Amino acid sequence: MRLFLPFLALAATLGALSAPLDEPSALLLERGGHLGGDILAPNSTGGVWTRGFAKARELVEQMTIEEKVNVTSGYTGFCVGYTGEVPRLGVKPLCMADGPSSVRPSRGVSQFPAAITAGATWSRRLISARAKAMAQEFKDRGVNIALSPVTGSPLGRSPLGGRDWENWSADSYLSSIASFITVRDMQANGLACTAKHWLGNEQETRRRPFNRSEDNDFTKAPIGQSVDSRLDDRTTHELYALSFAEAVRAGTAFIMSSYNRLNGTQASADALSQNYILKDMLNFHGSVMSDWGGTHSNDAYNGGMDISMPGNSYGGLFGNFGGASLLADIKAGRVPEWRIHDAAIRTLAPILELQGDQQWPEVSFDVRDTTRSLYPSVRKPETADLIREIGEEAVVLLHNNRSAGLGLPLKPRHVLRSLALLGEGAFDKPTGWTSCGQGGGSCSEYSKNGTLTMGGGSGWGIPSYILSGAAVMQHEARRGAFDINLDASDGYMNLSNFRMQARASEAALVFVNAWSTEGNDRPNITLFGGGDRLVKAAASECNNTIVVINSGGVVLVEDWIKHENVTAVLYAGFPGQEGAGALPAILFGDKSPSGKLPFTWGRSLDQYLPNSIARVPDIAPVANFDEGTLGGDWHWFEYKNATPRYAFGHGLSSDAPQDTTFEISGVTVLLQPGETQTVTFPLRRKDLSVWSTDNQNWMLLSGDYHFGVGGSSDNAPVAASFSF
Ligand code: NOJ
Repeated sequence: MRLFLPFLALAATLGALSAPLDEPSALLLERGGHLGGDILAPNSTGGVWTRGFAKARELVEQMTIEEKVNVTSGYTGFCVGYTGEVPRLGVKPLCMADGPSSVRPSRGVSQFPAAITAGATWSRRLISARAKAMAQEFKDRGVNIALSPVTGSPLGRSPLGGRDWENWSADSYLSSIASFITVRDMQANGLACTAKHWLGNEQETRRRPFNRSEDNDFTKAPIGQSVDSRLDDRTTHELYALSFAEAVRAGTAFIMSSYNRLNGTQASADALSQNYILKDMLNFHGSVMSDWGGTHSNDAYNGGMDISMPGNSYGGLFGNFGGASLLADIKAGRVPEWRIHDAAIRTLAPILELQGDQQWPEVSFDVRDTTRSLYPSVRKPETADLIREIGEEAVVLLHNNRSAGLGLPLKPRHVLRSLALLGEGAFDKPTGWTSCGQGGGSCSEYSKNGTLTMGGGSGWGIPSYILSGAAVMQHEARRGAFDINLDASDGYMNLSNFRMQARASEAALVFVNAWSTEGNDRPNITLFGGGDRLVKAAASECNNTIVVINSGGVVLVEDWIKHENVTAVLYAGFPGQEGAGALPAILFGDKSPSGKLPFTWGRSLDQYLPNSIARVPDIAPVANFDEGTLGGDWHWFEYKNATPRYAFGHGLSSDAPQDTTFEISGVTVLLQPGETQTVTFPLRRKDLSVWSTDNQNWMLLSGDYHFGVGGSSDNAPVAASFSF
């Protein structure tokens, strides 16, 4: 049997790193009001795209100003976005499609595990395999530019963030490694990636001023500004830009700016972050597009934006930028032609490099009609196996009490006598997979959400199928010799039959969930559907109650975690369309769980950074990132000396007896019982450096460096240090 020896090698810390900043506003704020006039956009020299850059320059030099404007303006159609074409020069429109977990919204594609779930595997191999398999589906659907991945924005400053699950981890280092691998491997066969959302996109509430369609709009009127994320220079580099820096290093072709303001300037127009940090300092030679409706003036082109999305589509809902209005601004001298010349080169160069030699497939989906499967599927059979494998490797065993033969693993399939499948979350969603996700309603607290596999918004994707807990475990009962007892109640219903089914069973699986979505932050971190009541009802009747949680982040478990009959708790994340398919291997001990939490699981909302979502009904709301490099996750818990329920990196292994201790003297993910192995973990100079605002560079400081290796951020038994 495989033994998992958990490891964590992120605890290289400097004393100085964990101190709060005296001055929350260093360089970024000192330079406030940084529009294009303050810091000019650098012209691209091509970077790694030597051939593509030469071809793009040759093409753009032949273009009229109208044609350059067309290449740098957004359109819509079959795809959620396009760039404009120049037929006489053979420049085609480029199809853009969401998103981080699927080709959205297309039929006949896979709904992959969410990034937060892939992040819970801590596996470079699986993150790479996911990237390659996703890229194949994007390409086969005719997409030129994937609006993916989310590279640490949101990072997860607040556990309430509606889109935290679209990113890999609330830890900037783990996020940055996954971003590098994903961009490199999604782009390996020509697909272009978009690292998003640059920068400081840590809340959904008041993300847009033109918030006519979103219920977080407090006025329902097109007034008021986007939330202003105020973060200092050091925090920018060490936390929020780190994952983007790795995406750029991996060669991301595009970057999408965010909806929020950044230190007072609309992010899409912010010259300091785009012209200076991104294009100059990080040496990004690709193209920056706005988020859909993130442009508020054509001056954003001066501030570093290269494409305004989605132009004036959707009846001007998102404003009227790029196109004719940009042409007018160029003619009036408000935007110089050289800027649009460079923007067109930046947009075409990576595409010509990555896709120039290939016959690219025609677009075969239509965002305007997702009700029918008009095109053949592009799914490959082996992708289902990969999705399941990621799901299995991502399951985090949060809690396990193996005394008296209870807990996990369950008795073997032919020995177990009866198993209850309880809670609406164990079943198919009665109204179908597309009845919430994007459009068409929401997975509300009071609806039956079924086995919940994904959050909502542009990070969602239409699943081809979903394997519910009930479907999967009934199949297991057929293989084994146990009876299945069922009840699909939610916690707001009369639970007498629910209790009876639990009482009749040797073990009871209770499926609970919580939904998160783009457009809204979570109102709280409690379970949906009266989940706490379900768990307590099962535990009052069955002494082997096992809880399965599907959510994109932390949910409170305090109401029942100490109940003696709650013998095991599994966090299954948002696993994509294989749904509960990962569970049998874990439950019956075919595989030992090896998922590790990519975020901190608190005991209450109060333990997290306070007021991390700016909600005030203000005309110009401000989110002050005064905590600086303490971030919002494990840094914060350490700073506050707060004991979480489960620390960052936590994840148990079920095949070790209760009292087993692991002696860690190295790091490893494959060991036989009794075997030891020495493993090296390369650290880059940057990993040991701090960002110096004065020097505008990474500095390796003299002092003591402390390292910890262990299973989680609160348990790093191997300590080492050295001094420079
Ligand atoms: C808005 C989202 O913020 C972004 O992530 C997405 O790519 C665009 N809409 C396009 O759907």
